[in-house]
Formats: sequence, structure tokens, C-alpha cells
Amino acid sequence: MATNRTFTMIKPDAVSNGHIGAILNDITSAGFKIIALKYTHLSKETAGAFYEVHKERPFYADLVSFMSSGPIVAAILEKDNAVEDFRKLIGATNPADAAEGTIRNKYAQSIEANAVHGSDSDENAEIEGNFYFSQLERF
Ligand code: PPS
Repeated sequence: MATNRTFTMIKPDAVSNGHIGAILNDITSAGFKIIALKYTHLSKETAGAFYEVHKERPFYADLVSFMSSGPIVAAILEKDNAVEDFRKLIGATNPADAAEGTIRNKYAQSIEANAVHGSDSDENAEIEGNFYFSQLERF
């Protein structure tokens, strides 16, 4: 059964281009409730740990460099069928393939600078939310 939470980051490209407000507005307008929210700047070590699952992939070093290049916004979101509905809202990983009106279609620059992250499973949503937020920071 689908759980009702997912995890997202607004990535350094979208933060530096001034899209935090617009993206949070798109997220809440689509029916997601913000359960936890944090503005932070990842070190290379922390970004490397977050993306460890991709460490064998050819883009891993670039992805870690990019994700530690500037501040990000991390959030836990709640909605029925959250993981799947959020992936639909953000669109395809490569913005060239992202459907019209999706967050990546509107705000992403490239497959690396693709504006937002969205968990790909309920299990990873739980792991990723716990990576960023302590029990005191969410409810
Ligand atoms: S996905 O969304 O997990 O199915 O996509 P995937 O292709 O597995 O990519 C995993 C994350 O790696 C990023 N990515 C890249 N970064 C830099 N360069 C290249 N070529 C590249 N390809 C994929 C992609 O944005 C995913 O990041 P997150 O934060 O999970 O969205």
C-alpha cells in the first residue's frame, strides 16, 4: 500500500535562480502538505552520502559536486499516494522530456541542474526524510 509521504529537495540551480517560492507554491497548490522544511548547504561529504546509492554511476562525482555547490531546500511532503503523485508533478529526470507544466519543465536547466529531487519509492522517502530531519523537526 502506498504511504502518504515523500521527500524532496529544491536543488542549487532552482534556489540560485530564485524559484523557491514558486516551486513551494506549485507543491502546495497540487495538494501536498509540508510536514518538515529546511534551508541548508550540503558539504561534499553529506551530498556524497545522500547519493551513495548512485556511487557506481558515471555521473556520481558531478552530481555530488553540483548538489554541494550552493544552498538547497529539503522538505517532507504529505498527500495520498505521495511518491507517485509527486513524481508526476515534477516530470521526467531530463527536463527535455518533462511534460508541459511540470516543475522540471518550468524551472530545470539540464539533466544535472534539474530543479528538484523526488523520492522514487516509499522506502526511500522514509530513508531520505530521516537523513535530513530528526524526530523533533517533523510531526
Ligand atoms: S531517477 O529520477 O532516480 O529515476 O533518475 P536517475 O536517472 O536514476 O538519476 C538519479 C539521480 O542522478 C541525477 N542524474 C544526473 N546527474 C548528473 N548528470 C547526469 N548525467 C545525470 N543523470 C541523472 C538525477 O537528477 C537524479 O537525481 P535526483 O536528485 O534523484 O533527482
